[in-house]
Amino acid sequence: MNIDGRPWRTIWLEEGGRSVGVIDQTLLPHRFEARSIATLDQAAGAIATMVVRGAPLIGVTGAYGLMLALQRDPSDAALEAAFEQLNATRPTAINLRWALERVRARVQPLPVEQRAGAAQVEAAAIAEEDVAMCEAIGEHGLELLRAIATARPSERQQEPLNVLTHCNAGWLATVDWGTALAPIYKAHRAGLPVHVWVDETRPRNQGASLTAFELGREGVPHTVIVDNAGGHLMQHGRVDAVIVGTDRTTRSGDVCNKIGTYLKALAAHDNGVPFYVALPASTIDWSIRDGVQEIPIEARSPLEVTRIAGKPAAGEPTSVQLTPDGSEGFNPAFDVTPARLVTALITERGVAPASEAGLQSLYADSLYAASFNAASVAQH
Ligand code: MRU
Repeated sequence: MNIDGRPWRTIWLEEGGRSVGVIDQTLLPHRFEARSIATLDQAAGAIATMVVRGAPLIGVTGAYGLMLALQRDPSDAALEAAFEQLNATRPTAINLRWALERVRARVQPLPVEQRAGAAQVEAAAIAEEDVAMCEAIGEHGLELLRAIATARPSERQQEPLNVLTHCNAGWLATVDWGTALAPIYKAHRAGLPVHVWVDETRPRNQGASLTAFELGREGVPHTVIVDNAGGHLMQHGRVDAVIVGTDRTTRSGDVCNKIGTYLKALAAHDNGVPFYVALPASTIDWSIRDGVQEIPIEARSPLEVTRIAGKPAAGEPTSVQLTPDGSEGFNPAFDVTPARLVTALITERGVAPASEAGLQSLYADSLYAASFNAASVAQH
């Protein structure tokens, strides 16, 4: 996507693969800076500290992290240690484990001297596939948005379509295009007028800092709202659809996404507003059904709750304390929206009901489903 007229991706190879370039998302929206990742520790650190974040992007970063590890030591022991180190950085998004398993499976059978090169090829393939999947999600989502726009009463046909989103599931969360924002970018480029309500997304404010940033750079009309405003806007007919991303989707269609997503789904359900979840196949965890019981929810530092980052009118970005001295904070980073609250899933293969039958109708032939189906049959 575009920054000041120049197309960017969120991650790229440098020096023929000796390092990887990323956009430092902890500095946005106030500073747009790239940084290099040259070692396994730097890759793991970038994921853990959210220099890179968003389920698909942390998967790709993990894959490149394995490549960097194998360049230094391609032994079996080093491969396993690097896998474990990267996999432990963030527990909720399944894309990370999925990408690490894919690279490990590719390199493990090879002689050690071929492993780093093969890891590079596989990681680059994961990145390219992510771009293609996200763009396809955009195309399918565009058709959905067109249908919603057309179905509005005639007196509202001239208004932009109002879409609410939570957190950042845009191009910054993927390699390019995004998941939830891909249909919005496609709509904007196709001339379908669209306006986005951007949930600020406390505690880290990915909506206010990242979604607003990328929508602004692409010229998409948007308005940042506090997280608590969505229900009110829905009650007053000011939201035509909600589209969010997901960090892990169970085989039965439960979706785990940024904390607060569940409350938006409840409000949408109560107000008859369609609630869509956009995802690539790499976000589906075929091994589980019950998202509430089975998905590990990352607990991040309470300091993200008790403090807030911003930029003073004059001066450099900083962080300030919000709470009284001594008040404790608790910071679950994700929640689960049960499938019954999801109107439909928007995938790279099309739109389907959020249910086991819906997902199977799209992925019955796929390797993702096949490998986990076998495991699941053995377990149950
Ligand atoms: O904690 P983050 O910023 O990594 O959380 C990101 C989200 O919750 C996104 O909605 C999700 O990863 C889907 S991204 C396409």
